[in-house]
Formats: sequence, C-alpha cells, structure tokens
Amino acid sequence: MSGEPRVWGDLPPNPPGEPLRIAVPKGRILEAIAPLLERAGVDASPLRSTDRRLVRPTADGSIHYVFLKPDDVPTYVEYGAVDAGLSGRDTLLERRHDLYTPLDLGVGRCRLVVAGPRGAVRPDVPRVATKYPNVAAKHFAAKGVQAEIIPVHGSVELAPLVGLADLIVDIVETGSTLRENNLDVIETVASVSTLFVANRAAYKLRAGAIRPLVEKLRAALPHDVSSGS
Ligand code: PRP
Repeated sequence: MSGEPRVWGDLPPNPPGEPLRIAVPKGRILEAIAPLLERAGVDASPLRSTDRRLVRPTADGSIHYVFLKPDDVPTYVEYGAVDAGLSGRDTLLERRHDLYTPLDLGVGRCRLVVAGPRGAVRPDVPRVATKYPNVAAKHFAAKGVQAEIIPVHGSVELAPLVGLADLIVDIVETGSTLRENNLDVIETVASVSTLFVANRAAYKLRAGAIRPLVEKLRAALPHDVSSGS
C-alpha cells in the first residue's frame, strides 16, 4: 500500500489512457443499445457475442464493456469501478445514486405502471407486489393511499393470480405479459428509457474520452429524444 490513504467507497477513476470502462445491463436491452452505439461509430460487436466473459474489450481496446445485472449498473458507476454505464430510469428511480446522467438514449422505452386483475374490487389498503418497493411506496403515499408493499424479484404478474397481492407495480413494454395474465393497467407511474450515466470524478478526469462519446451518442439519437436529466 502506498500514496494517499483511500477513503472506503471512493475508488480512484481509471487513469487517462486506460480503456474506458462502460457498464452495460445484461439482457434484451442490449439488442436496442448495440445499433445505437454502431450509429454513433462505436464498436458494439462485444455486445453481440454470446460468450460468458463479463469484461469484453472492443477491437481497438479503447473500451471495455462490463456486463452486469441491470440493478447493479449505477452502483458500479457511482463507486468508480467503471467510468460510465447504461442504466434504465426505473433502476435509477428505485435507488438514489450520486452520478451524472448527461444523456437519455431513448432506447428501451417502456412504462412503470400499477396493474391489477380485470374487474377486481380493490380493498382500501391494497397489497402491492413489486420489484420497485421504493417507487411503489412513494407513488401510493403521494396519492394518499395506504398500501402494503410486498417486494418480489421477478414474474411479478404472478402475485395477483395466486393471492399474494391485489396490485402490482411493474414494467410494461409490449403489454403482452399483462394481457396473457388477465391484468389491466390502472395508471402510469413513470416513463422509462435507458440513460447514459457517468461517474462524477471520471466525467471530469476522463472528459477527453467520455464527453466525445456522449456527443457521438447524442448525434446518433433519433430526433424525438431529449437530453438526460
Ligand atoms: C419484464 C417486466 C414484465 C415484462 C413486461 O420482465 O417485469 O414482466 O418484462 O414486458 P411486456 O409488456 O413486453 O410483456 P422481465 O422479462 O425482465 O422478467 P422478470 O419477470 O423475471 O423480471
């Protein structure tokens, strides 16, 4: 160990000249992200390969894509283990993170909704199953509705079918999962898309690498996409 003492949780950013580390969420969202990167002139071939490597360099070595569970992307970015990442607004809403969100990529568009069984009578204090307990609690509190939030980790649509919950708060993209399980959207909680997020220190210290990338991505966006917030 040498140099300045390190504050726990405050990793130094990757030094200039090193590959830019970009966290990407594993799963179907990569199918939307890869074409956008390619339109921006960024090598996205590592996103299309089907191997099990969790860190995959571009052909020129300038970028290392780091493959993560979607919920973990903001954590790796905030702590500086990666310089930047691509994260859904749903994930960012659920847990507060200290990071920059310079650009809304406009891909992976979907909605966070409250849904429930078609025609069902709802109790005064509904039980709500969700992968987004903080978002759901805030939503019902803002409406002045008392609700019992039941955290689950997946297949959320199952909860009302077997009596675990009266309602769900979950992502709707095509709507087919709700339809096929006889559930209806009751209200929209938030619109969701994928944002480019950056570690605060890296955004300054690695500005020469990160900012041109953000500008290339911005230029490649469809015209109806606004900037990040
Ligand atoms: C998401 C979401 C819904 C589904 C919605 O689940 O939680 O279940 O997609 O998509 P649709 O409106 O196009 O049908 P995901 O596929 O991520 O799996 P999970 O249920 O295990 O979380």
